[in-house]
Amino acid sequence: MSDYQDLVNEAQARIGAAADLTALEALRVEYLGKQGSVSALLKSLGAMAPDERQAKAPAIQALRQAITETLATRRDAMESAELEARLASETLDLSLPAAETPKGSVHPVSQVMDELAEIFADLGFNVATGPEIEDDWHNFSALNMPESHPARAMHDTFYFPDAAENGGRMLLRTHTSPVQVRTMLAHGAPVRIIAPGRVYRSDSDATHTPMFHQVEGLVIDRDIHLGHLKWTLETFLKAFFEREDIVLRLRPSYFPFTEPSVEVDVGFAIENRRRVLGGSGDAPGHGWMELLGSGMVNRRVIEMSGLDPDKWQGFAFGVGVDRLAMLKYGMDDLRAFFDGDVRWLRHYGFSFLDQPTLSAGVGARA
Ligand code: DAH
Repeated sequence: MSDYQDLVNEAQARIGAAADLTALEALRVEYLGKQGSVSALLKSLGAMAPDERQAKAPAIQALRQAITETLATRRDAMESAELEARLASETLDLSLPAAETPKGSVHPVSQVMDELAEIFADLGFNVATGPEIEDDWHNFSALNMPESHPARAMHDTFYFPDAAENGGRMLLRTHTSPVQVRTMLAHGAPVRIIAPGRVYRSDSDATHTPMFHQVEGLVIDRDIHLGHLKWTLETFLKAFFEREDIVLRLRPSYFPFTEPSVEVDVGFAIENRRRVLGGSGDAPGHGWMELLGSGMVNRRVIEMSGLDPDKWQGFAFGVGVDRLAMLKYGMDDLRAFFDGDVRWLRHYGFSFLDQPTLSAGVGARA
């Protein structure tokens, strides 16, 4: 051992004087690395005669052990000193404001759909859904618009190139009315549903976007008549616009899937250059605005939906959700609904905590 005591002393002195971890690492390589001096001593054992090797090996091993331990101790000391220094110099200012978490808001279309679901749930309606990729039988034929029907041309339909399973064409549904047929086929009668959702038409200007939203209503039972339709629409619109003075005007109209068909107008006044619903459209300073289509479901639609039209009858209606949102919350450009501009959403969006309930007034307070 004593043969190497000088070497141990020198190494310990140099390790003790190393200024930092880099210097320490250089010393480790110098002594213990592949080309290091201690490694060379260990290798030299291999060339010795057995006697000599037995005599020197313990001292060389002890030397290596001593240098390894000295290095480890010094490294620990340096690392904790470094940590101490960081803890002393870095301070955490708990009074600084926290980083802001971006907060989303509920899109007016979603808000209005939630309000509709709430109002109609109170009247005993379920929410039904159907596919946005439809076949032309459900979208047109079953709604009494056969192949040659002129109303098909009015819908500016987006068609897919592939054929449907039933041989017809696939398309993006042009209205929510096919959900009427799907619901009757799947569940039979009686039926009380609304079906909100996206619809598509190849149409685009300030008041038309290629994708928009509708809500369909359908009631089928044994003795439903136009009076039920009028009461339901009145009750719905009063709850939705949160005004008792909503006045409706029913005009005869034509839709292939209803007979008779009625177009529903609602009275409004101009306040601050905005249309505000309420009052009779015939009152001074008022007017009528066309709001939705409806009627008694055509016998042929009931039949094609698998029900006996001598036993079952009812009413249906369809209305634009985007339009309802614009009228209620005062937004004037439909295209902004789908631009995805967060500034618009920040302005017109609603708090997710503000769930529509009938008891609190269904509308958002934001
Ligand atoms: N589906 C019609 C459209 O998109 C709207 C409509 C009118 C729906 C009358 C109805 C209805 O259910 O009875 O133009």
